[in-house]
Amino acid sequence: MLQTQQPVLQRFWYPVMYSRELVEQPKAIRFFGQDVVLWRAEEGRPAAVIDRCMHRTARLSLGWVDKGQLRCRYHGWAYGANGACLAVPQVGGRPPAGQPRLPAFHCQERLGYIWLCKGEPLHPFPHIPEAEDPGFRLVHEFIETWQCSSLRVLENVFDMAHINYVHLGTFGVAGQDTPPKLDIEEFEGGFHMKAHFEVANPDDQKRNLGIPGERTTRTLDKTWYLPFGRRMRITYPNGVVQVIMNWAVPMDDDRTLMVQFALRNDTEADVPAEEVIAWDRKVTLEDKVVLETTEWDTPLEPVRERHMPADRPSLIMRRRLKALLEAHGESERTRIQSNFYEQGPVASVPTSPGSQAGMDSTASEVSPAGVDVEALEGRPTRIAS
Ligand code: FES
Ligand SMILES: [Fe+2]
Repeated sequence: MLQTQQPVLQRFWYPVMYSRELVEQPKAIRFFGQDVVLWRAEEGRPAAVIDRCMHRTARLSLGWVDKGQLRCRYHGWAYGANGACLAVPQVGGRPPAGQPRLPAFHCQERLGYIWLCKGEPLHPFPHIPEAEDPGFRLVHEFIETWQCSSLRVLENVFDMAHINYVHLGTFGVAGQDTPPKLDIEEFEGGFHMKAHFEVANPDDQKRNLGIPGERTTRTLDKTWYLPFGRRMRITYPNGVVQVIMNWAVPMDDDRTLMVQFALRNDTEADVPAEEVIAWDRKVTLEDKVVLETTEWDTPLEPVRERHMPADRPSLIMRRRLKALLEAHGESERTRIQSNFYEQGPVASVPTSPGSQAGMDSTASEVSPAGVDVEALEGRPTRIAS
């Protein structure tokens, strides 16, 4: 999927920068393949429009803010928060004829971030119970660019099978190959997923969690927010709860803005935020190095890659994203012509009850239409192991 070429994906809320960074000067960002400028309009409210003046195409982010209006540095034309050109200084400050407007974005400020949405939002802002709970503190962790698609990031944060490979330097346990049982329940805006598993507990985590042993367990309660948001609530045996929130914001087809913050039910005196961030950075950098090697035109069609039962969350995401596109008159835009892993015909997936779905296709099963996604997703019971 070429993520910048599917307009419906823009009709969701995405955090794009820290509120504290949007002050006097306009700020340029990249959002779904577009240059966008943000500034503080009337009463300090955030505003965002395409970063290109309608006069001679200069970047508006080079300009300045004057009484809430964004002024172009080239000839001083003035813009309002809805993208309307309000004044042309060279004609006595009148607006241009026809009340032209630049494409504008919905903006809101929440949890210390500026959030954008293009067009009418398809879902309300996600409910994050811990963000309203005074027993939790908010820790801003990082915003950075990852050289991969946003779908790869989201699949990764629901992928329980990579932990004991990618994260052996942090919380992975070598040799623990069987992924935990996943309990998944879909809802209109995504799905909930529950799991329980054992993790390594190295020295920095011993301090961060107040748990002494070499191993501990995590009880996970995760939510996927269509299309690229996640909440992960981790409960440890001693009652410490850490919620990690991620949004993977498409910048271009091959680039993602990775936004991560945490909510914890302990205090700064228990564990300084910088220690929390240092550990979570170490974990996510283990993911980043692998994800940046993946193909960024991430296919929604299951036939394009091979799968295993533990890929159930990712297969649900692909099915739901495909349905989302179709419900809005779109189809998957892609540059992929064939499978990544082989040249030639597309192999099907064995679906007999005893088989390892998707793992052992052979040439005799070749069929372009042969992937049984329902079997791979395990509905209703097959892949719940
Ligand atoms: S290019 Fe912006 S005012 Fe001329
Ligand atoms: Fe990971």
